[in-house]
This record gives sequence, C-alpha cells and structure tokens, in this order.
Amino acid sequence: MTSKPTKIGILTSGGDAPGMNAAIRAVVRAALSNDIEAVGVINGFEGLINGEFRNLGARDVGGILQRGGTILLTSRSKRFMEPSGQREALRKMNEAGVDALVTIGGEGTLKGAQVLSEQGVKVIGIPGSIDNDIWGTNISIGTDTAMNTIMEAVDKLRDTASSHQRAFLIETMGRNSGYLAVMAGIVCGAEMTLVPEVPVQVEEVATAVEDAYRRGKTHAIIINAEGSNIDTAELARSIDNRDLGFKTRMTILGHIQRGGSPTAYDRLLASRMGIKAVEALVEGTHGVMTGLKGHGIEFIPFKDVISNKRQVNMEYYNMAKVLAR
Ligand code: F6P
Repeated sequence: MTSKPTKIGILTSGGDAPGMNAAIRAVVRAALSNDIEAVGVINGFEGLINGEFRNLGARDVGGILQRGGTILLTSRSKRFMEPSGQREALRKMNEAGVDALVTIGGEGTLKGAQVLSEQGVKVIGIPGSIDNDIWGTNISIGTDTAMNTIMEAVDKLRDTASSHQRAFLIETMGRNSGYLAVMAGIVCGAEMTLVPEVPVQVEEVATAVEDAYRRGKTHAIIINAEGSNIDTAELARSIDNRDLGFKTRMTILGHIQRGGSPTAYDRLLASRMGIKAVEALVEGTHGVMTGLKGHGIEFIPFKDVISNKRQVNMEYYNMAKVLAR
C-alpha cells in the first residue's frame, strides 16, 4: 500500500514561462481535493535551501490563472548545484514536513528535480519553458504563448518592413534550440530562418535577401534564433553594407517573449499537468515528468528526460524553406 503525501511543496525555477501560475493553481487545488496540504516554495531551489515556505490555500491561488510570470518567483540557483546546498534543502523540507515536491521549469529544473529524487524525495516535474527544448513532451508550458507573442510582433514588423521595402532581421529566444525560430518562420512567413542546429554563412542570408527583392517581394523577413552561429547585430551590419535591393533593420524580441497572459492552450496544458502531477503522487508514482504525448499526459522518468536531447524537427525546418518562395 502506498502512502500518499501529507504536504506537497511547489516551486518554479529557471526562466519563467506563461502558464506557470495556472500550473501552481492546479497543483494546489488538486492537492486540497485529495486532503493534502500545499506549500509554495518562494524563489525556486534557492528558497528551498533557505526554507522559504508559504502555505497555499484555494483562495491564495485565485485570480492567477490568467497571469504571466510566476507568483512563487524564480531563480537559477548556483548553491543548489553543490551537495551542501542540496543537503540544506533536504533539511529544510524535513523541518517543514514537506514530503513531496512538484517542480515547474525547464531542463535545469528537471536536473535539480532528479538530484532530489535520487536522494529519496518524491518529486514530480512539470515542463515549463518557452524554448520547447525538453525531451519527452510534445510541448512545454509557455511555448504556445511565446509563439503567439512572436507572431504578433513579427506581423507588426512586416507591416513596416513592407511599407519601407526593407529587410528585417528578427532575433527570437530559445537558447540552444531552434524551435521558436522554425515555428515562427512558418507561421510568420519568413524568407529565411536561422537555427543553432543548422549553421549557415552570411552569404546565404545575403542571397536570400537579394532573391526576395528580385522576386518582387516588398520585404524580406529573416528570423534568427539567439543560439544560431551568426550574431544578429553583426549580420544586420553585414547585410546592410551590401547592395541587395532592400535596406536593413534589426529587432531583438528579447524578454517580451517570456511575458504576458497565457493562451488558452497553455492554461489548459498547465491545468492538466498540474492535476496529473498530484494524481501521480497520490498513486505513489514519482521521479517522473508529466509529458504531453499525442493527446494524453504521460509520466516520463527524469533519467530519460535529462539524458536525451530534443532536436529541432527538420520536417518543419524544410517546410519553412519551401513556404518561403
Ligand atoms: O530558457 C528561457 C530563456 O528565455 C532562453 O530562451 C534564454 O536564452 C534565456 O532564458 C535567457 O535567460 P535570462 O532571463 O536569465 O537572461
């Protein structure tokens, strides 16, 4: 017979992502429905080390479903990477009677979750990252909202690009993953998409810009993922110095991609994963991440998640190329 936890701690860590609040709300309310207490850990793994816990009732998570960011705050804790930090975190959890943990965040968060899991803590991970670079889930919480933010921004940039007949170099986030850039390339109709997974030469970009001009286009939109082999500002300078038909401007979308009210898709995904995380703990399952596979939420072992690398889907990359004609 498995004993269900009595007090679940919830933390968000790493880069915030829209929908994290919806996941927090779901975990708290699912825990309460199962007669389990819920406590928020303030400021990610850093807060775990410092013992910063806050009891969360149903009303404490009211009105947060539609809010971007994370009400629990977040950090990238260096101290937690050290055994001494982990030992301190375990001690603080024991003192507070927290006997299970739900961590919401990206790759770094899942690695932290795995460390605690190896030390006997019942942990469930929920993937939250705009980058969509986590193996084992079709999509992470926050990615859809970020995609929509990018799409809105690029649509606006295209309006002015067309009016002035310019080439625009637009940098998207994504760390070492080209996911956001490739998807943006498709849904925003970019003339070229640069991703970390496929290095290109500046000459190829110049050719794409000139081709767009020759074909009679009124603009050339080039999406550059932040992790690609070419720096956006340098690329803009280099392209602008050539006679390609279009003059050039550059926009780095930056942290605007991380904020904002989560889309319906992200709210739903976060709510489903939050409920599923508590279900797992009640059933005695832990050491796993909730992952969207097909239409269902499945449990993927941490060791599989962190030992595999999610690759950019080349089918989509090629699709963006075909559609750029
Ligand atoms: O992982 C999310 C992300 O926004 C990446 O796309 C980006 O590389 C990084 O975080 C930026 O981190 P910071 O907010 O610490 O500058």
